[in-house]
Amino acid sequence: EVFEGMKETWMDDAKIQKVMQLFQDNIERGLKKATHKEAIVKCFPTYVQDLPNGTEVGKFLALDLGGTNFRVLLVELDAGKCDMKSKIYAVPQNIMVGPGAVLFDHIAECLADFVHEHKIQHEVLPLGFTFSFPLEQRGLCVGILERWTKGFNCPDVIGKDVVELLNQAIDRRDDVKIDVCAVLNDTTGTLMSCAWKNPNCRIGLIVGTGNNGCYVEKQKNAELFDEADMGSGNVIINLEMGAFGDDGCLDFVRTEVDRTIDDLSINRGRQQHEKMISGMYMGEMVRRYIVQFTEKGLMFGGKASDALKEQDRFSCAFVSDIESDQPRQYTRLRDILRELDLSHGSEQDCINVRYICECLSRRSAHLISAAMVVLLHRMGESNVTIGVDGSVYKHHPHFRRLMIQKMSELVRPGISFDIMLSEDGSGRGAALVAAVAARKKAETG
Ligand code: BG6
Ligand code: GLC
Repeated sequence: EVFEGMKETWMDDAKIQKVMQLFQDNIERGLKKATHKEAIVKCFPTYVQDLPNGTEVGKFLALDLGGTNFRVLLVELDAGKCDMKSKIYAVPQNIMVGPGAVLFDHIAECLADFVHEHKIQHEVLPLGFTFSFPLEQRGLCVGILERWTKGFNCPDVIGKDVVELLNQAIDRRDDVKIDVCAVLNDTTGTLMSCAWKNPNCRIGLIVGTGNNGCYVEKQKNAELFDEADMGSGNVIINLEMGAFGDDGCLDFVRTEVDRTIDDLSINRGRQQHEKMISGMYMGEMVRRYIVQFTEKGLMFGGKASDALKEQDRFSCAFVSDIESDQPRQYTRLRDILRELDLSHGSEQDCINVRYICECLSRRSAHLISAAMVVLLHRMGESNVTIGVDGSVYKHHPHFRRLMIQKMSELVRPGISFDIMLSEDGSGRGAALVAAVAARKKAETG
């Protein structure tokens, strides 16, 4: 019966084909001037036009905000080599949902701490700011926040240039000087970082706390990017595909549990695609299904523990752990059940819990696969590498395999793809964006 109950999460061919068609239409709308304003998938031009070629040199600072960890980095590029020093700083919950000035003061304080620790406080280093939220860019270092996503909500920042807010916070202190020369999304950072190693990389994908992608588009198709200079003739588009479905177009695949997750989130009605896919929501979805089946008397002898009833108690890492067990062995799963005061679970309960995890991670991988194949078809190139980062992709034992299987099934003949893990996060990507911009400036005088 649990098996029956989970069927609503299956992405059969008909559903996938419809999702793909919708996604394709959404991208068209986002890219075109006439429809961009109402478009749900925003397709923001990033102003990043050139991929790295391995000759980038220089010493850069980078900030990486918006994933699981906030990081400050010092990156040294030297013709094909890259040395990185980084430190993780906490962003307290109250700062994630408070006034913007407090958030940016905190960022500036961490930056000051970092440069003092590395004794570079007297150098004015170029800085790349990875800011992983939807930005409408008006230049490489101008980004207006369209909305907050994931766990952040500092309402007074919306509509403002986050680089200006960072500069203001730095000016409020007198112990650090920097030159912010690029603001970018984590997907762009991932794409740049992977392209530095692999010239076939043309797509950046994040499956982590949130979900999003970027890709290399022909400049003539990116109608909002009407820079006179054609440059390389290409521009990276930050899709902000987490918002896909916010007009209700994905309601035919969303379930009661998806609706509950949305209702309880801090951004109700928004980021519907992201909520079906990313790590911030996956564990809670699994928990809700377990509770639902237990209340129906189908699991755990009808007895849910208090721990199981607690919202967000089931983390996304549990899903990866549970699926890492060997088939029919429930070692890690048993540990997790113990942690949730569910030691009374039977073998059948273990089978069911694992099955629920599998259904939801598979749905996530299938939705991502559908989106990636739409991009591959759109780009029409014969061999494209997708650079991926994010905790779900990195830690889930089968995510990559699920994606490769589904994408191979969906992709049209003549197009091949590869998926590569980004190993160093967006920090190097941020430095590369800054470096490529500097190189271009030098070349054009
Ligand atoms: C990191 C990148 O490796 O992955 C970040 O450096 C990115 O820029 C993050 O946001 C995404 O994964 P998660 O799981 O931390 O949200
Ligand atoms: C959210 C953000 C997006 C980011 C993604 C992954 O969807 O809006 O900008 O790329 O999370 O971190």
